Amino acid sequence: MAKGKNNIKKIAVFTSGGDAPGMNAAIRAVVRTALNYGAEVYGVIRGYDGLINGDFIKLDSKSVGGIIQRGGTILQSARSKEFRTKEGRQKAYDNLVAERIEAIIAIGGDGTFTGANIFTQEFGIPTIGVPGTIDNDLYGSDATIGYDTAMNTVVDAIDKIKDTAGSHNRLFFVEVMGRDAGFIALNTGIATGAEAILIPEKVTYIEDLVITLKRNKRKGKSSAIIIVAEGDDSGGAYELASKVKEVDNSYSTRVSILGHMQRGGSPTLADRVLASQLGFYAVEALFLGHKSEMVGIINGKLAYTSMELAIKQNADISTELLRLARILSI
Ligand code: F6P
Repeated sequence: MAKGKNNIKKIAVFTSGGDAPGMNAAIRAVVRTALNYGAEVYGVIRGYDGLINGDFIKLDSKSVGGIIQRGGTILQSARSKEFRTKEGRQKAYDNLVAERIEAIIAIGGDGTFTGANIFTQEFGIPTIGVPGTIDNDLYGSDATIGYDTAMNTVVDAIDKIKDTAGSHNRLFFVEVMGRDAGFIALNTGIATGAEAILIPEKVTYIEDLVITLKRNKRKGKSSAIIIVAEGDDSGGAYELASKVKEVDNSYSTRVSILGHMQRGGSPTLADRVLASQLGFYAVEALFLGHKSEMVGIINGKLAYTSMELAIKQNADISTELLRLARILSI
């Protein structure tokens, strides 16, 4: 990088919103890249709440040692209510000025970037976003940090559920995370050979699902796994199970909500590498004069996307994968 449109001396970094495996690897990359360019880095504890309370810690190279393999986030995370108010943001700004911090790297998802974008508009402090969420629901990066690890956790869990489902001839409804996005459900559904995958991006028709299940039964399938994204319009796994029961009561059904285990654990190789790249590029982006942008990787290459677009525009779910999943599950 040709250093320096911007000669930034102090950078703040924080994690915000739902934590995601790989956030620590991103923090490590931010700190070590900034130090390499002669800037100091301050970690903010608990995201925007920490900005408001002036909860900063100076991070040196050693303080981010031994964390690349750890899940969660050493800086902790929060969804701040106070930062949504002008008064809260003013307090945050005053704290940054007092510490002479000139730029921010925010690691998180859409809520995080909404806050960062407003903050830059109001106070002119440059912010760069690093996409960190298991949901993969941001436009501007093929994958977000934590997505790969979460999917591997789900696959491991469903493989185990399949063992017991087969032993008891049961119909299992497995709910995975994804408030507004079906990426985890779709890919883990393909990877585990699920009989049906229900996602928020597609309307769920109970009658169609029951037809699929009946057809499977006729073909001699004695157990089935239905993967439901939590944001599916059916209302989630419990709701769906009872709706199916109303139409056809012949199954022994069970529901399994995988929940927050999907957010934990040691990041996979893919997430560690992605987080390292994005943390590195985020620092370089600040030195190059970018602001209110998210760094991402598209087709193996660095991509900048305005935070506004990253939040507003939905990452596309692959209709091709949906079609493939339907054909392979028969
Ligand atoms: O955004 C990540 C996510 O894990 C979503 O998939 C889920 O809906 C939400 O966070 C859960 O948030 P919380 O940890 O606040 O319950």
